[in-house]
Amino acid sequence: MEKVIVIDFGGQYNQLVARRVRECGVYCEIYSYRTPLDKIREMDPKGIILTGGPNSVYEEGAATCGRELFEMGIPVLGLCYGAQLMMHIMGGKVERAANREYGKTSTEVDIKSLLFKGIPEKSIVWMSHFDYISKLAPGFKSVAHTTSAPVAAAENADAGLYAIQFHPEVLHTQYGKEVLFNYVRNICGCIGDWEMGSFVDRTVAELKEKIGDGRVLLALSGGVDSSVAAGLLSRAVGKQLTCVFVDHGLLRKDEGDQVEAVFGEKGNFDLNFIRVNAAERYYGKLAGVTEPEKKRKIIGEEFIRVFEEEAKKIGAVDYLAQGTIYPDVVESGLGGESAVIKSHHNVGGLPDFVDFKEIVEPLRDLFKDEVREAGRRLGIPEELVSRQPFPGPGLGIRIIGEVTADKVRIVQDADAIYREEVDRAFNEYAASHGGESAPWKPDQYFAALTNMRSVGVMGDERTYDYAIALRAVRTVDFMTAESAQIPWNVLQRVTTRIVNEVRGVNRVLYDLTGKPPGTIEME
Ligand code: XMP
Repeated sequence: MEKVIVIDFGGQYNQLVARRVRECGVYCEIYSYRTPLDKIREMDPKGIILTGGPNSVYEEGAATCGRELFEMGIPVLGLCYGAQLMMHIMGGKVERAANREYGKTSTEVDIKSLLFKGIPEKSIVWMSHFDYISKLAPGFKSVAHTTSAPVAAAENADAGLYAIQFHPEVLHTQYGKEVLFNYVRNICGCIGDWEMGSFVDRTVAELKEKIGDGRVLLALSGGVDSSVAAGLLSRAVGKQLTCVFVDHGLLRKDEGDQVEAVFGEKGNFDLNFIRVNAAERYYGKLAGVTEPEKKRKIIGEEFIRVFEEEAKKIGAVDYLAQGTIYPDVVESGLGGESAVIKSHHNVGGLPDFVDFKEIVEPLRDLFKDEVREAGRRLGIPEELVSRQPFPGPGLGIRIIGEVTADKVRIVQDADAIYREEVDRAFNEYAASHGGESAPWKPDQYFAALTNMRSVGVMGDERTYDYAIALRAVRTVDFMTAESAQIPWNVLQRVTTRIVNEVRGVNRVLYDLTGKPPGTIEME
């Protein structure tokens, strides 16, 4: 399979670059700039992309690479810091500009350059840099400029070297996708053999080969990742796979039954499915507990207990499967450069209570959108594949104060109404706008139960009931978020339905707080 590699210099968009390359049908992986040249050569990449980064190339100790990287005969594309580094190393000059060039910037490109084939001469690009290329390296010519930067892109086509000062990977750059496509397909000459249908076939074959007649155990949460992992493994080894689904009674409305409908005996997969209904057990443990961290801890520990009990019944297995995905790998510092500090629960921290020989991670190379697409190819229903993020501790962290069965019922019912109405409004918008996505479409939206009760009237009667809080956020990476502007009429319809249909609620509030200072969840 063809491969393009991204060399990470600590830029914030490194994963985005790799995702965009994959969207061009070319498999792409991220490596730290510290990766030895021999290892890069061994990978036999069709192209190498250098990312942006926080340093200045002329600084002492700045992230760098050897000149040999540019002399291997493999086309190299430098982006932002990567572009400056290429110039610096190849004999050009990079200096600090008087003003930072930041944001959407009008740019003029040389349409004779292969990089800009098929795109208009003038367009908007996304800039974010202090330093600029003040002198081109020998053999290079400028192929794009802005009013403040004479070199917004440069190339030495004979040497296969391309440098772009702006960020083609972000959506603000109008023809960014076309530029990356030109690089990987027209300059590197990739044919585009990365596609989810063939990924599924290849992975199923590899899993079959690796697992042989061994037994596999997987904790199925009902989330996208573990569901797709279950689908792949079931295709590969059928009944040798056992999935344990712990229903902790803190799932969304009817979610447990939906998971069982897909993966259970009457579902569409061949595997051993064990559903543990542990709601009572969890509610018992959570009784009287109000502190959010304590709740999380109890829910996490109880999960391990339940899973351990089931694992004991099953006995020794050969493989323990996990739904680790590529961003988990990169963020754990095993791939790129950016966040070596973060550790991820799926990577490295193996449960020691299960008797297994080896770990198997069939989604380790995939981005989230690719996991969803693989799920579709496997025949997992859309409602499960396109599910929004849902925290492991579930509704336990969407109920302020003590968790009780009745409060779970309230938040489940209110949340189901909210999601139904938002989805309806979203579909109506698309239907009346030629399939276009509503600009307010949130990336995550849910109801939470505040611990506040207040006076209301219903009919002639005074009520003293709970307030539901509605949350909807727009976010790119879930590290920061802003509240989504759900149309007023949709919020009104949701409010009316919740107070009418959900017993125990007489007030609905909309949370406008961003992250920071809030968090996305409400706990
Ligand atoms: P916060 O509330 O920290 O959430 O702003 C950021 C994103 O992470 C999700 N989240 C979790 N996901 N286990 C998970 O798998 C957890 O314990 C957890 N806590 C929060 C949250 O839904 C949001 O998407």
